[in-house]
Amino acid sequence: MGNPVAHSKSPFIHQLFARQFQHRIEYSAIQVDPGGLPQAIAQFRAAGGKGLNITLPFKLDAFRLADHLSDRAKVAGAVNTLKFEPDDRIFGDNTDGIGLVHDIELNLATSIKGKQVLLLGAGGAARGVLGPLIKHHPARVVIANRTVARARDVVQLFSGQVPIEACSFADLRGKHFDLVINGTSASVKGEVPSLPATLYTRDSLAYDMMYGERPTPFLEWSALHGAARVSDGLGMLVEQAAESYFVWRGVRPETKSVIAALKKES
Ligand code: ATR
Repeated sequence: MGNPVAHSKSPFIHQLFARQFQHRIEYSAIQVDPGGLPQAIAQFRAAGGKGLNITLPFKLDAFRLADHLSDRAKVAGAVNTLKFEPDDRIFGDNTDGIGLVHDIELNLATSIKGKQVLLLGAGGAARGVLGPLIKHHPARVVIANRTVARARDVVQLFSGQVPIEACSFADLRGKHFDLVINGTSASVKGEVPSLPATLYTRDSLAYDMMYGERPTPFLEWSALHGAARVSDGLGMLVEQAAESYFVWRGVRPETKSVIAALKKES
């Protein structure tokens, strides 16, 4: 459920997962009007629905509607996966962060441990991935945001776990990072955060949590300014879906072939 959802790739992804286990599932994208999530969920359950993915702009609503939450959903403050339990309670989880980490570590073969990590953005998307990122022991995490106060608020939530600091984009001048993750929504509007041109080293990975038919503006900018490798968030999309599938069905689908199938489709 989300808005908009018409172009969601998730039904395709979950059908490929189900085929791996010969599960018979029905998974479709349901467009929900603003404010309409509680009614939509009630209708879905009445019709026999077992679980849901929740996407923008309803991840905070889903967080509030869940009867109980996983630790990672609590840390993220947002929910992208709901499961209806036998006792009728709604379990809320967040698989976005683990999706990002799996894509970086497994698919892109890039260890986060000991790395200098820059996370751009301080909204729901950025905050949602910080917990799992930190669990992988980066040497340092810097959160840069257009509105620095928001970055400071996020840093407060996670302080004490790893060296972590907040700053503005201008403060990044002269600093270098191994991994730069774009968690802003700038790419949606065809924009790039105004970053200094010297962020990257010859080993750096630039990662955009967004994906599209074409490289995002952030990835184009990064390739032009010295990032060794760039990746959009298509792998993250599949990995978070696999983790949701695990939450619902207790088995973890293989993802590489699904990512390849999606790339072939687009
Ligand atoms: P989401 O849930 O997708 O994270 P959000 O909470 O509205 O959405 O947060 C959007 C993030 O993208 C914020 O960090 C925002 O910066 P501000 O906090 O300063 O608003 C960031 N953002 C959006 N457009 C941007 C742009 N053109 N350049 C840089 N940052 C941008």
